[in-house]
Amino acid sequence: MQVIVTPDPGAAFQQAASIIAGEIRSNPSPVLGLATGRTMEGIYSLLVQDHLQNGLDFSATTSFNLDEYVGLSASNPQSYRHYMNDHLFAHVNMRADHVHVPDGLAEDLNAECQAYEQAIHDAGGIGLQLLGIGETGHIGFNEPPSPFDSRTRQVTLHPVTRRQNAGMFGGDANKVPEKALTMGVGTILDARHLLLVACGRSKADIIARALLDTVTPDVSASALRLHPHCTVILDTAAARMWQ
Ligand code: F6R
Repeated sequence: MQVIVTPDPGAAFQQAASIIAGEIRSNPSPVLGLATGRTMEGIYSLLVQDHLQNGLDFSATTSFNLDEYVGLSASNPQSYRHYMNDHLFAHVNMRADHVHVPDGLAEDLNAECQAYEQAIHDAGGIGLQLLGIGETGHIGFNEPPSPFDSRTRQVTLHPVTRRQNAGMFGGDANKVPEKALTMGVGTILDARHLLLVACGRSKADIIARALLDTVTPDVSASALRLHPHCTVILDTAAARMWQ
């Protein structure tokens, strides 16, 4: 595991964006795993800038998002599909049929999860998987405990996560959906390169648990230490306990 500590969030986003852009530029058909959340906004904004200013070409890129709330439509501004359109897809030249976000409105959610796994497999697997970390230690929405061999499935969100994400729901944790679809920890570990980005003091304790404490399904992000090619980018605030 390579841990990079940057002086501030801006520098962390820059480093992450340059790794993603490097994958897009060097691979003739890149397959990216994407995440949502506040941390990712700065990274997507730099990728959009790279596209507009330097012609970063997304036309051969395929993407799979980690997760989606159950019960929200793509047009709902609180859905992750909407987030991705807003922050990335609408601003770059990705083909609509190359973009995948789990469908939280699917009639048969188990079938949707199985089809998602199959689509990742059919695309040749994920080359570079972008990850954030939640206060519960989740990656994707793999709340504790999540078996390290878990696959894409429906999960119940932890109350801490619903509080963490309440900002998008008018500050009311009760309005955050209780259920979500998420790639499993096993699905994530199958990616060839994992890139975790965490910034800010609120992430310092869970980063220390995930990176320094026991490797356990009670902290999903600790599974990253089992991966042969994992890059972690932290700002100094998130790395407080690490240094
Ligand atoms: C979102 C996701 C989550 C977030 C994590 C951190 O697709 O997979 O694991 O990455 O909750 O979210 P922020 O960046 O908002 O702190």
